[in-house]
Amino acid sequence: MKHLLKLSDLSKQEIIDILDLADQLKYAKKNGIEHKYLAGKTLGMIFQKSSTRTRVSFEVGIYDLGGSALFLSSRDLQIGRGEPVEDTARVLSRYLDGIMIRTFDQEEVETLAKVGSIPIINGLTDYCHPCQVLADLMTIREHKGSLEGLKLCYVGDGNNMANSLIAGCIKVGMKVSIACPDEYQPDAELMKWAAENGEFCCTSDIAAAVKDADVLYTDVWASMGQEGEAEERKKIFKNFQINDEVMALAADGAMVLHCLPAHREEEITAKVFEEHADEIFDEAENRLHAQKAVMVKCMGDGTH
Ligand code: CP
Ligand code: NVA
Repeated sequence: MKHLLKLSDLSKQEIIDILDLADQLKYAKKNGIEHKYLAGKTLGMIFQKSSTRTRVSFEVGIYDLGGSALFLSSRDLQIGRGEPVEDTARVLSRYLDGIMIRTFDQEEVETLAKVGSIPIINGLTDYCHPCQVLADLMTIREHKGSLEGLKLCYVGDGNNMANSLIAGCIKVGMKVSIACPDEYQPDAELMKWAAENGEFCCTSDIAAAVKDADVLYTDVWASMGQEGEAEERKKIFKNFQINDEVMALAADGAMVLHCLPAHREEEITAKVFEEHADEIFDEAENRLHAQKAVMVKCMGDGTH
């Protein structure tokens, strides 16, 4: 695997291989077993948006693997003053062994990969968040024992999280339903692909979407870059909340996941959030292990 740009680029086997390696790396870390598979390698981390989990887990992850990280804020890079991403990619390829980038436009990530000569890892764009969903799948498998045949229901905005959940869950044989307002559906092309390649539905009828779901998932109503729409979105999304009534429609023992940060009493009630905090914070922890696996697959020598 050269890059991680979006999950639809990966095969089912590639996703499973990442999850298996992530489990091994988690075991190694917990048991003090050395795993410096990227000794001497340097990861550049370009951030054009804020981050807590992605930044810290990538930085800790590359150190665990024997490498080092450079935090590159777009405020400080020339990219923030208009230097083309093509030139930035060609320059950084001469210094670094890999780049993790969080930005707005998916096209920018794809261009970096095309023009540069080192692995590019997508740390979130407006279109998708593949690293998050690898950690999500890892967490679901840990808690439920397997993935195939489980139903995941995503409630809320048809945003980057919804897109990556559709791609990742359908690839591994899960069923996916999306509950969102009609005007806020996920990417149309991705939904068409999902319907042709698995069990998928997208509806504004939250009760229908949630019915018998094994995993419920939600995300903020206003993503980074949409702060100006936050008040309007509160009205539009008010019926797309994970709460006790919604939980009652899901399968017995349903899990609840949230990529975080969470806005309590908006997309999820504080009560449901706290009842499922163990799952949600396992999910956050698994960002570290899943991304270490991604870095090893993209930047390693191919032996793991
Ligand atoms: N879930 C996630 O990507 O969190 P951060 O924005 O804190 O990185
Ligand atoms: N949809 C959110 C995800 C944050 C991890 C955003 O893009 O802000």
